[in-house]
Amino acid sequence: MHLHDTTVVLIVDDIPANLEVLSDALTDAGFEVAVATNGESALKQVEYNIPTLILLDVMMPGIDGFETCRRLKANANTKDIPIIFMTALSDSVDKVRGLSLGAVDYITKPFQQAEVLARVQVHVQLRNATIAMEQQNIHLKQENEQRIAAETALQHLTQDLEQRVVERTEELAHTLQILQKAQVQLVQAEKLATLGQLVAGIAHEINNPINFIYANIHHANHYIHDLLKLIQLYLVQYPHPTKDIEKSIKEIDLYFLIEDLPKLLSSMEMGAQRISNIVKSFRNFSRHDESELKIVDIHEGIDSTLNILEYRLKEKVNNQSINIVKKYGSLPQVECCAGKMNQVFMNILSNAIDALEELIINDKYFIFPTILIHTEVLEAEYVVIRIIDNGLGISEEAQKRLFDPFFTTKPAGKGTGLGLSISYQIVEEQHGGSLTCISNPGQGAEFVIKIPIRHLAQSQKVLCSNSSIGNPFY
Ligand SMILES: Nc1ncnc2c1ncn2[C@@H]1O[C@H](COP(=O)(O)OP(=O)(O)OP(=O)(O)O)[C@@H](O)[C@H]1O
Ligand SMILES: [Mg+2]
Repeated sequence: MHLHDTTVVLIVDDIPANLEVLSDALTDAGFEVAVATNGESALKQVEYNIPTLILLDVMMPGIDGFETCRRLKANANTKDIPIIFMTALSDSVDKVRGLSLGAVDYITKPFQQAEVLARVQVHVQLRNATIAMEQQNIHLKQENEQRIAAETALQHLTQDLEQRVVERTEELAHTLQILQKAQVQLVQAEKLATLGQLVAGIAHEINNPINFIYANIHHANHYIHDLLKLIQLYLVQYPHPTKDIEKSIKEIDLYFLIEDLPKLLSSMEMGAQRISNIVKSFRNFSRHDESELKIVDIHEGIDSTLNILEYRLKEKVNNQSINIVKKYGSLPQVECCAGKMNQVFMNILSNAIDALEELIINDKYFIFPTILIHTEVLEAEYVVIRIIDNGLGISEEAQKRLFDPFFTTKPAGKGTGLGLSISYQIVEEQHGGSLTCISNPGQGAEFVIKIPIRHLAQSQKVLCSNSSIGNPFY
């Protein structure tokens, strides 16, 4: 853009000769020229058509150049127009006054054409440069504002995004929890089903033969007792038997046989009795397939579980065995899913045995390894079962995660880390009870199971049914 294209110079002078000279010179130089012959008309013109620069005579009739200048500077629309005063050569007071009023320059009369043109050109250029800079400034400001707006928008977007990430993470964590629960329940169902089937199968297979062994031992005992009596009678009545009989008596060591046979039979009877008891415990333990709440004897459940675990309590290395102390209170029959509660006893007792075994194996034991089982009624509504061991206890860190699925401190292959989390679900969610752990590291652990004696009728169906095991969202 050529600056001169839109450059208008307003000449204000009351002397027509001056106007003409300046006007010609400026027009020749390519400026557009406007003229006014006094201050008032100059001010009026300026309102409609803002010039690029004003050449202003000082001495005029009406309002003089200074006053015109003051008014131009007082008006926001015109204050930036550069003003060059035209003054007499000798009058230096006027020059100073003009500059102090805001004029950019002065030219002296009589005019030197070249000087006028040079000064006008310099100030027009300055003015145009200023305008260009101002425009650029405005532009920059706008750009800056846009940038700030964009940054703010971006910030909001980022915040929004972060919020969404947080929400989504929470959702995912929640889903993960549900899935883990589902997995636990599936494993639990699987474990229970397999264990239950196995135990029930074994119990069934062994039950009949052991029953007739046990029943017949009893009769055999009688018969043998009678036979031995008869032999003894023979020995008394016929103190001198034939040679052959005497030989046979020696061969079979009859006197030892008579002494040993009853002992042998009674130990066989004890063995059969023990097998029969274990079978009973198995059946009792595998009651899980009964899919309804049952009114059961909690102590019977604990005893059956202990019976099954018997092999783990006796004859440890270092000749140490685990002592069981029962402090059973008088409990009413409790309404619960017997099979599942037995599973809880099994999990907690197994953990206690694991903890004690570890100490025994490492020969760190100075006191008698003991599991104390304490039961009582609480507030007439609950039964509380405490299973307390004097093992090494549980660190604070581990206590926080005890009931988490898959949390285990046992070596791979030994523990799955599901025992307590399954027990927790059975006690808390399926029986509306509570399962807590109290442990001071180094001083053993105590697990407290609290379950209501009676359940609300409506919860009965879902409580033990297999569908509740399979459905993770129950
Ligand atoms: N009586 C206890 N004494 C010391 N630590 C215990 C005791 N009971 C539980 N724990 C700790 O809690 C952890 C979790 O127990 P949980 O029964 O859930 O899993 P696990 O016994 O490791 O494996 P499994 O699934 O075979 O039962 C154990 O690994 C053990 O560190
Ligand atoms: Mg366990």
